[in-house]
Amino acid sequence: MISLAIILIVFTVLLYYGTKPYDYWKKKRIKHERPWPFVGNNFQVFFLKKSISELAEEYYWRYPDEKVLGFYRALKPELIIRDPELVKRVLIQDFPYFHSRGMLPDKKDVEPLMRNLFTAEGDYWKLVRQRMTPTFTSGKLKAMFPLIVERAEKLKARTLNAAAEGTVLDAKDLMARYTIDFIGACGFGLDADSLNQEDSEFRKLGIKIFQVRLRDVFVSLLKQFFPETFRGFKVMDHLEYELKEFVGSMMKKRNYKSCGRGDFIDLLLDCRQQGTVYGESIEKIHNGVPEMASLEFDDDLITAQVFVFFAAGFETSSSATSFTLHQLAYHPHIQEKVRAEIDFVLTKHGGKLSYDAIKEMTYLEWTLKEALRLFPTLGFLIRECARPYHFPELNLTIDKGVTVLIPVQALHKDPLYFKNPEEFRPERFHPDEFDSVQKYLYLPFGEGPRACIGARLGLMQSIAGLAAILSTFTVEPAPQSIRHPIINSRSIVVQSIKGGLPLLFKERKAV
Ligand code: HEM
Repeated sequence: MISLAIILIVFTVLLYYGTKPYDYWKKKRIKHERPWPFVGNNFQVFFLKKSISELAEEYYWRYPDEKVLGFYRALKPELIIRDPELVKRVLIQDFPYFHSRGMLPDKKDVEPLMRNLFTAEGDYWKLVRQRMTPTFTSGKLKAMFPLIVERAEKLKARTLNAAAEGTVLDAKDLMARYTIDFIGACGFGLDADSLNQEDSEFRKLGIKIFQVRLRDVFVSLLKQFFPETFRGFKVMDHLEYELKEFVGSMMKKRNYKSCGRGDFIDLLLDCRQQGTVYGESIEKIHNGVPEMASLEFDDDLITAQVFVFFAAGFETSSSATSFTLHQLAYHPHIQEKVRAEIDFVLTKHGGKLSYDAIKEMTYLEWTLKEALRLFPTLGFLIRECARPYHFPELNLTIDKGVTVLIPVQALHKDPLYFKNPEEFRPERFHPDEFDSVQKYLYLPFGEGPRACIGARLGLMQSIAGLAAILSTFTVEPAPQSIRHPIINSRSIVVQSIKGGLPLLFKERKAV
């Protein structure tokens, strides 16, 4: 009897705790679906049945007449935005209210790798971004270009060997090897040579970063539900040691000083030598005047940025380029047009890929952008409200801590904004056609002060890889290709395709 009473009490307490916040949207009269205890409306994402982008897209289509929707990510209220004006306000105009992504499972105990630019919050984020921005200037990108060209040549050689044997190649695997070699060379001064070595350590690290372990999802959930109890548990402990060792050995090799290569490790070593970074606070503002904030650039901080450079650059670029090849395989007339442009530009530049040549490949750039429209590797953007924020047109005030989600993947496919959205048509990016409303709805790299810091680098490196492949090969669907590839439901943030993208690569006949 006593045991039964205890069970009942525990159950009631848990139920109370696991449903307590679920009147938030009801009180604010915002449309939402019935949440489940603890998981809210996010059941399918927590149990790896759907990616966040897919679930957000589903909600988007279910409520075509709403500007915003209520959602519960576990116990946390989230606002899904469906309106272009509101998207612009959150990402750009009212950025001071929305400067964090709110992705930290526990803000009081941030584990070392979570201090990376993508998940970092507040002043910490601002000062790291301030210091890292110089890595991505035009001058730096131009200086990196010979390294990109070298990698693109290797990509061509590897494809040539495989194509000569008549094998079907997984475009995703091929482009992932190219991307990782590029990151190794441009980011860390390494000759990772993933293209030619089946078991390159660097590539294994790349794969490990994107492996979602059930244990990590579980720990992340427990930290969200019971932050005090599970403080000290780490979500990414399996990577922390390996990355620390990797970065430690890189810094030691350079004697803890930048060696003049101008790569990512050099920049971080410079920051380490300069010590503390100073800048205006975005968290502490009194009567409109920000306090000064500071940050010590220590080894943990450096490791976290190496991690994000690796993670943010790897899956995004390789997914974008392989999906572009997949689309071109199914659209031979567009492929021909792309190839004619590549041939024309390369002939003009003495047959060589270069920074200037890439900039002239406009149609190829539109093609890549069109692939990113249909399959944005990050199919949603997220921001957390830093202090109460009022939407006058909705007569709605959201509180500090509420997250705002922008369902990019759904917006990209809405016929209201993109005519015949299912059609693959690079011409929609022609400046005469691409209008100012679309500018704030086409968001494969995000927008505003927290937009992708590596966007131009990602674009350039992707265009170079595509140009190298398409100048030498035609791509065709393989017998095992799937016309509409399936998104891997285990993709937590960056989306990947289930089972890769097998394609036939055929060497072009000399003309
Ligand atoms: C095709 C390639 C790429 C795509 C599609 C892409 C996409 C994105 C998107 C959508 C975001 C979030 C933006 C937002 O919330 O507004 C982002 C953030 C970020 N990306 Fe990329 N990215 C790419 C390549 C790269 C590369 C090459 C790097 C670095 C080497 C990089 C580093 C980052 C970082 C550090 C952030 C966080 C920025 C911040 O919060 O301040 N990305 N990226």
